[in-house]
Amino acid sequence: MFKLIHISDLHFAAGPNKGGFIAAFASNATNERNGRHNQDLADLSAYFIAKNLGDYDCLLISGDIATRGTEADLQVARQYVLAPATQSGGYLSTHNRPTLSYGSRPTVLLPGNHDRFKGPLGEPGSDKFEHAFPNHWKVGLNGVQSVKVVAASGVEVSIISADFTLISKTSASVPGGHFSQGRCIAAILSYLKWVTNTIRKRYPERGIIWVSHFPPPVDSFDIGVYHELIDGDLLLTAARSCSVEYILCGHLHKQGISTYNGVTVIMAGTLCQWPSKNGNWIHALEFVGTGQNLKLSAMNNFLYNSDNVDFGLDVASSF
Ligand SMILES: [Fe+2]
Repeated sequence: MFKLIHISDLHFAAGPNKGGFIAAFASNATNERNGRHNQDLADLSAYFIAKNLGDYDCLLISGDIATRGTEADLQVARQYVLAPATQSGGYLSTHNRPTLSYGSRPTVLLPGNHDRFKGPLGEPGSDKFEHAFPNHWKVGLNGVQSVKVVAASGVEVSIISADFTLISKTSASVPGGHFSQGRCIAAILSYLKWVTNTIRKRYPERGIIWVSHFPPPVDSFDIGVYHELIDGDLLLTAARSCSVEYILCGHLHKQGISTYNGVTVIMAGTLCQWPSKNGNWIHALEFVGTGQNLKLSAMNNFLYNSDNVDFGLDVASSF
């Protein structure tokens, strides 16, 4: 068995708890869409994961770790994600702050559109993300990174992440699309396929999971042009051609799972962006089997409940 914690869209900002995404740029704005992180919720999330999911094999963060892509935002995010915990089984760093990093469990992460913003107009193409996470997202790998994870059970899985963030504002397909669109660039897709096929050939017993911040076009997700992965159908076609059955995503701040022509797209909700009209989520996935027979066997989705001030299992979406 392979056990994976999937979280996404943390939207860390140097100044937390102040509402909207626009407010993160201009403190007098009142627009509350796509806001920055809530620190109390982030703290609770780290505690919940340590307490309940401490034996999981891997932590995946599928992008939008920061809100504005600035160094200040990315460094706050980095501390939360990577500052080592001081005690075994604990969740507090040496600065007595909650952290997701404890034990020997690997963390896999990739940039989302927000992590690539260059400034207040949301122009894409910043390279600050790789400077903030140099051991987790390396430059010069054609936007694709593969991490081998060995589960406690001995099962091996390669998690292969592809960065489909826009290279520039002109890569968007509609005016304003540069804020939230991605583009399935042929060179990245081709490298993703090459890495996948090489691993398949060399290590046939190893399972493979793909990660894209942007979900490919699956009808039931109702993505809309301003948030779409342009040419995303090519990602689905590529997954099928490589016999990759699972693509893990974030971006829409909605929990969801949908299978289309044999490819299952699993979308994580936002962990701690606040407010969030579709809730705040932690996802715990379990896979069984090896190689091309790796299958999702359980998905436990934990939803934040403000009455209880805790995460609880969302029975309706879990199995
Ligand atoms: Fe996003």
